[in-house]
Amino acid sequence: MSNNMSLLALLSLLNLASILTLTYPSFTSFTSPSTTATKVCDLQNSFEPSFMTEGDFVIGGIFPLHYNQEMPDLNCTYKPPPVKCNGFDPRAFRWALTMRLAVEEINQSPELLPNYTLGYKIFDSCAYPLTGQRAALAVLNGLSEADSPVCSGASPLLAVIGESGSAQSIVVSRILRPFRIPMISYFSSCACFTDRRKYPTFFRVIPNDDYQVKAIAQLLLRLNWTWVGLVRGDHEYGRFAVQGLLRELQGTNVCVAYQEMIPLLYNRQKALGIMQVMRSSLAKVVVVFSAEGEMTPFLRDYMKENITGIQWVASEAWITASVFTGSEYYPYLGGTIGFGIRKGHISRLSDYLLTVNPQSYPNNRLLPHCTGQETLLEQHSAYMNTSSPRVAYNVYKAVYAVAHSLHNLLLCQPGSGPFQNDSCAQQTNVLPWQLQHYLQEVTFDIAGEEVNFDLKGDSVPYYDIINWQRGTSGNIEFVNVGLFDGTKPAGEELVIQEDRIMWAGHQSEVPVSVCSASCPPGTRKAVRRGEPVCCFDCVPCDSGKISNQTNSIECTFCPMDFWSNKDRTACIPKKVEFLTYDSLGIALTVISGVGAFLTLGVFTVFFYHRNTAIVRVNNSELSFFILFALTLCFLCSLVFIGEPTFWSCMLRHTAFSITFSLCISCILGKTLVVLAAFTATRPGDNIMKWLGPKQQRAIIFSCTLVQVVICAAWLIDAPPYPSRNTKYERSKIILECSVGSSLAFWCVLGYIGLQACLCFVLAFLARKLPGNFNEAKFITFSMLIFCAVWLAFIPAYISSPGNYADAVESFAILASSFGLLFCLFAPKCYIILLKPQKNTKQHLMGKEKSSMP
Ligand code: TRP
Repeated sequence: MSNNMSLLALLSLLNLASILTLTYPSFTSFTSPSTTATKVCDLQNSFEPSFMTEGDFVIGGIFPLHYNQEMPDLNCTYKPPPVKCNGFDPRAFRWALTMRLAVEEINQSPELLPNYTLGYKIFDSCAYPLTGQRAALAVLNGLSEADSPVCSGASPLLAVIGESGSAQSIVVSRILRPFRIPMISYFSSCACFTDRRKYPTFFRVIPNDDYQVKAIAQLLLRLNWTWVGLVRGDHEYGRFAVQGLLRELQGTNVCVAYQEMIPLLYNRQKALGIMQVMRSSLAKVVVVFSAEGEMTPFLRDYMKENITGIQWVASEAWITASVFTGSEYYPYLGGTIGFGIRKGHISRLSDYLLTVNPQSYPNNRLLPHCTGQETLLEQHSAYMNTSSPRVAYNVYKAVYAVAHSLHNLLLCQPGSGPFQNDSCAQQTNVLPWQLQHYLQEVTFDIAGEEVNFDLKGDSVPYYDIINWQRGTSGNIEFVNVGLFDGTKPAGEELVIQEDRIMWAGHQSEVPVSVCSASCPPGTRKAVRRGEPVCCFDCVPCDSGKISNQTNSIECTFCPMDFWSNKDRTACIPKKVEFLTYDSLGIALTVISGVGAFLTLGVFTVFFYHRNTAIVRVNNSELSFFILFALTLCFLCSLVFIGEPTFWSCMLRHTAFSITFSLCISCILGKTLVVLAAFTATRPGDNIMKWLGPKQQRAIIFSCTLVQVVICAAWLIDAPPYPSRNTKYERSKIILECSVGSSLAFWCVLGYIGLQACLCFVLAFLARKLPGNFNEAKFITFSMLIFCAVWLAFIPAYISSPGNYADAVESFAILASSFGLLFCLFAPKCYIILLKPQKNTKQHLMGKEKSSMP
């Protein structure tokens, strides 16, 4: 690389030296033409112009008439010959001829510059900065010292039309700058030229690349190409364009997969490396800022490697290059899309090009191989392709811009001119900087299009979108499929007719170029660590969160009372659950119904046999009370089923606790009676006087009343209320009765427990009392079961979620009710129904006579 650099530096020096010795007259001599042709410099080497005519005003033209250079041998043992230009470029030749045409048209025009003729000097830049520099110097010098205007002190040229590539234009502009000669480039679009301090005399009739990269960025975004490769040539144009595109893509969701550079001196090995990257990358879209020069060898190798499936996005420099229109290119380049500069119409161009004949240029080195018999249409289609001139049209505009400016300059009225003391330019000695002033101001119309320059010398940003489609003969045709108008407000600049586009691989569907496929609704993007934002994984949303758009960055929480659906794409109302008539509810209903019926059955049996011994001896009134209370107990488990409402919540615990209290109070009463009856030791000591039916009722009533009071206080102070619980399961709303006051709840249960324990203790004391049918035994047993059920209930209740707590409670109610029913009444029913012979007082009292009344 450094070898190359020093070689280039050396060459460039030699180049300069070979054209003139560095003894330019000073600047001031331009402004004072009195210094006549005293010889002040020696021309060391000559470089012939390609075309030249004299005129009153001469303008220069620099075109890349060859696309290749041959470096001379630099062994420093002899004077190196000039760099040789190879590879005739018919396209640029057409541009040069367009300049001639424009000048000729202007010279013939009676309106524009009447009485004056324009002359031109056109040089070949060989599409390379070094040779461009030579051309720039040659354009300043002329053919020999004698007619070198620089040497004679006259102003050499008024303006230069050139150059094509930005890299060359930079060199040319640096050389012209000290002479303040304005240049108008027809193809140099590099954004670097906007620096007016560095390039004060630069104008152009092509939009600044800042607009092109903006357009490309919008195209990528529009087509959802979020993973793209960038390839550029090794020149300012490529460097600035890539820089600009990266800037435009910043903050968008388009990422650059790779950036590659085709080396200046084409190197097959490096090119193969780039192709390897292209082949292995997921980025199927490749944006290329380059021109035919380096694209030709690169594409030759690309085709040899037989790589397909790449969608090219071409920059303006090669999107209309007819070199690539051959049918052999179609499988590889078909579908290419890009922004082409504005086309125009030059009515006389195609006729004019056909007049070209080697005989008319006997000395022109460009035409040594031509016989004059060739058919231009077939052999040089690139030359004759004038249907929609773009760059040639730019050249045409540039020449007219100079002519119009000059015309305006010559129209200047002394005393109202733009220069010092309102002076005008001298008609016989127009200076380049004076022309620059008029160039900056000029506005004119060509074929309906207005041409002018802004303060930075730039022109109107307008592009056509061009798509490479297959023509009838298998060749590539440039089809216009949209436009980009930079003067439109943001967002409306790009217009694409997508249905007219043919994509790479002859596809009608937009190719996909992404690092990761987009995330469907229900998932969100999760950027991979250390990778660009375009490469991500799709993570399903958590339950309770959703994303309803593709490529969501975040999943959003569902609003209250809503939950995500299975796919996490929408929020649906949460399922409301409560103990209802599903299997559990039906089971509970059936069990409680059975219980209630059984109780009523027992009631019927007892009532029917109310005069038999076993019923009478066991205090029939209390038994009926117990049976009544038990029926209520069974039924109150039904209150727990169904949607909790304000009323059912209040009813639930209170109904249950009061009926249970009633029931246990009755059993307690019974136990007391049994205990009292048997502990009356002395006969006739009638303790039963104090436990007659009235007292019994009073006991039952007062014991129950306590519970009623507790319940009343509960209901008044903090009654249970229906509540929506989402604690247990966030995806559901469980409708339940909140107890309101847990203290009250536990008091109520505690009171029942207290009663049960008391009952148990008393019955336990009475269990051994004599008598074949000692009820105390059964009461003990029933209370044991009762307590066991309710002790088991507490942990189960606390740990059951939502509606199951209700089910647990009603099961506990049912279980304990059944316990009581069976323990207290099953033995008696057994005797009444199956062993009626035992249903006598004697049998019940056993052998001994007791003191039972
Ligand atoms: N717009 C390009 C530029 O400014 C056009 C171009 C002409 C070009 N010749 C080139 C680009 C050679 C790269 C190489 O340079």
